[in-house]
Amino acid sequence: MTFTQKNLEYAPAKLADLEQIMMIERVSFPYPWTEGMVVSELCDAPFSFSYVARDPEKNRIIAYVFMRALFDELHLLSIAVAPAWRRQGIGEALLALVLKTVHEKGLKRISLEVRVSNLPACKLYRKFGFKEVGLRRGYYCKPTENGLALQYEVPTPPLMKAVGFPGL
Ligand SMILES: CC(C)(COP(=O)(O)OP(=O)(O)OC[C@H]1O[C@@H](n2cnc3c(N)ncnc32)[C@H](O)[C@@H]1OP(=O)(O)O)[C@@H](O)C(=O)NCCC(=O)NCCS
Repeated sequence: MTFTQKNLEYAPAKLADLEQIMMIERVSFPYPWTEGMVVSELCDAPFSFSYVARDPEKNRIIAYVFMRALFDELHLLSIAVAPAWRRQGIGEALLALVLKTVHEKGLKRISLEVRVSNLPACKLYRKFGFKEVGLRRGYYCKPTENGLALQYEVPTPPLMKAVGFPGL
């Protein structure tokens, strides 16, 4: 699936995107993923799905999302937007892609963890209807911090239109 929104292209991530993904990763997280972790999402994992958002004029990647399916659940592993592009709806567009993925794969819920101090991300997830289902003590390091476990239950098809399911 490849489509354009707000003059950006959203497409499945490829190994060739690694360097630009790593640049965003390193400025977005206090304890970034290693190249090896990103590579394993891009190549080795049959149940992994990842997308990038690209500025076609400059041919630059400006955001990405990594997710992994496990049984009937999709785990949202990572999402990041390059600092200069934040607050322009790109995070929302990527989450809409996540919802489209759960819908296409027939999965029942999305789960994720987020640092308790990460207010932009917490607000983004809550805006989409994610609910808090637990607290993971000391889940994050550098700095050590608790993680909030959030979950989104995918509405059944008859309810999707009624609740304005953004993945349709
Ligand atoms: C979290 C992140 C992906 C949001 O991306 P974004 O493109 O800036 O988000 P959007 O512009 O689509 O914003 C959507 C909603 O998110 C929330 N939000 C995003 N940034 C926010 C901020 N700085 N302060 C408060 N709320 C914020 C708001 O609810 C916003 O809706 P609104 O514009 O109606 O208020 C981005 O801040 C980021 O990459 N952060 C670093 C990486 C990270 O923390 N990822 C999450 C790991 S769990």
